[in-house]
Amino acid sequence: MNIKNILTEKAVAAMVAAGLPADTNPALTQSTRPQFGDYQINGAMGAAKKLKTNPRDIAQKIIDNLDLDGIADKLEIAGPGFINIHLSAQFLANALHRAKEDKKLSVAEHAKPDTVVVDYSAPNLAKEMHVGHLRSSIIGDAVVRALEFRGDNVIRQNHMGDWGTQFGMLLAHLNDKLAANEVAETALEDLEDFYRQAKVRFDDEEGFADRAREYVVKLQSEDAECMKLWHQFIDTSIKHSEEIYQRLGVTLTRDDIMGESAYNPDLPNVIAELKEQNIAVEDQGAQVVFIDELADKEGNPSVFIVQKSGGGYLYSTTDLAAMRYRSFKLNADRIIIFTDARQSLHFKQAEIVGRKAGFIRPETTYEHSPFGTMMGQDGKPFKTRTGGTVKLKDLLDESIDRAAKLVAERSNDFSEAEQQEIAQKVGIGAVKYADLSKNRTSDYVFNWDTMLSFEGATAPYLQYAYTRVSSIFRKAGIEAASLTADIQIVEAQEKALAIKLLQFEEVLDVMIADRTPHVLCSYLYELASLYMSFYEACPVLKDGVEEAVKQSRLQLCDLVARSLETGLNLLGIEVLERM
Ligand code: ARG
Repeated sequence: MNIKNILTEKAVAAMVAAGLPADTNPALTQSTRPQFGDYQINGAMGAAKKLKTNPRDIAQKIIDNLDLDGIADKLEIAGPGFINIHLSAQFLANALHRAKEDKKLSVAEHAKPDTVVVDYSAPNLAKEMHVGHLRSSIIGDAVVRALEFRGDNVIRQNHMGDWGTQFGMLLAHLNDKLAANEVAETALEDLEDFYRQAKVRFDDEEGFADRAREYVVKLQSEDAECMKLWHQFIDTSIKHSEEIYQRLGVTLTRDDIMGESAYNPDLPNVIAELKEQNIAVEDQGAQVVFIDELADKEGNPSVFIVQKSGGGYLYSTTDLAAMRYRSFKLNADRIIIFTDARQSLHFKQAEIVGRKAGFIRPETTYEHSPFGTMMGQDGKPFKTRTGGTVKLKDLLDESIDRAAKLVAERSNDFSEAEQQEIAQKVGIGAVKYADLSKNRTSDYVFNWDTMLSFEGATAPYLQYAYTRVSSIFRKAGIEAASLTADIQIVEAQEKALAIKLLQFEEVLDVMIADRTPHVLCSYLYELASLYMSFYEACPVLKDGVEEAVKQSRLQLCDLVARSLETGLNLLGIEVLERM
């Protein structure tokens, strides 16, 4: 259920009945403060401006035609012409009863599911996954989970970087290691080291650079020996990524891999078509597209190179082929791509060129979804103390270690195994929530202490809130499903909590439309905070609480627990029963 949509529909009908132009926007929003009601219609001001009349008169006309029977019990005009809507307790109670009976908490599935291709994670297999891929992997996965929860048909595409000239040097080095009887798994144990070794040889060792170049040629002609080596390399590197996905709770599998190399056979076609349509032209031996739409202030068009002068293809060529495959073969309604913001220009260019060339159906959207950089305390991109890239593996290990220390410090009677499980869920959850809760497009400063704190908007706080809510049922010895009394919304804290609970679908809609998990993060934090206020003001298990009231409040507790669990799960964060 989406209260905002229900009210918007009613408001539009009222505006039409009041004789306002059919395109008048009701501008319905959640109220910012309880004294302004629960939702408000702000559209009277805009309509009055257009019609050059008094906004309060318009507001009154809207109210006269607004049928909110059984939904709201008070409407009032405030200030210049805001209409404040106070939802009725009975409406909220009924809606909560329905949510309680539904395993999806009244979040409806899309009536017409979209086919959504989501391109995320996409590490470069020549190197170890680093913090940059954390963001792409977990933001992408949260959006994918939310889309699936709403019933869309999601096709994950892990556009791994598994091709390119750098593989010449790596394969030449791997060849020598294998010849010296090393096995691929051991040789490639640490990809960062391996890359470094190969680079040193490339720069310093006589003849090695030439061999590396030969390997590039062999790879391009799909020489059997070379391909065998390449497969070994790729396979081992993919295993590294899979370990990370498993630890992070990222749902990508092997079947979702559609690496850059998969598009190789189609790249000559892409170029041929761009040439034929006169979209790509020759410039200093290369094939380029000049994009006037993105010209700079002096009027110089932006340049998109699609083929190098030697005939080699580029990242851009592959993305055009991928666009066509996703739109026409996978039948995408939406194509969503998560990469860091530095690639924004690339995807703008790709979209303009792709649409001109007909590589994407006009009705397919192309939604590059950039994210900001993770910064260290010094305000510069996050690095190790010695200035190296931080391996994701090491970052996760450290988070779990730190969480383990915190858990051990808190007095508890947990077994060794339980402590480990808690540390693991809290450590991983903390890193994920800290990242997901930041506005997607901004840079953010990585901070161990705030992300692992049990106070404020953090995973440990939410995980702890969940254990507190669910422990009520253990304490009471009651099963939530056995509660049958009516839910009663009486106290202000109950009402605030009820409305928040019923806004879950609204939040998911925004998150899905804007590809912004931080919206869900804030929602869960607000829900947990409202629960705490409710719990302080409205005793549940205390002596003297009437049975009917107790049962009503316990049902609110149950809905909070289930919403927290479902919401955290959509973020890929696990809950615990005790911590
Ligand atoms: N491999 C690229 C990187 O690590 C990301 C690929 C994103 N997807 C795409 N279709 N270009 O930056």
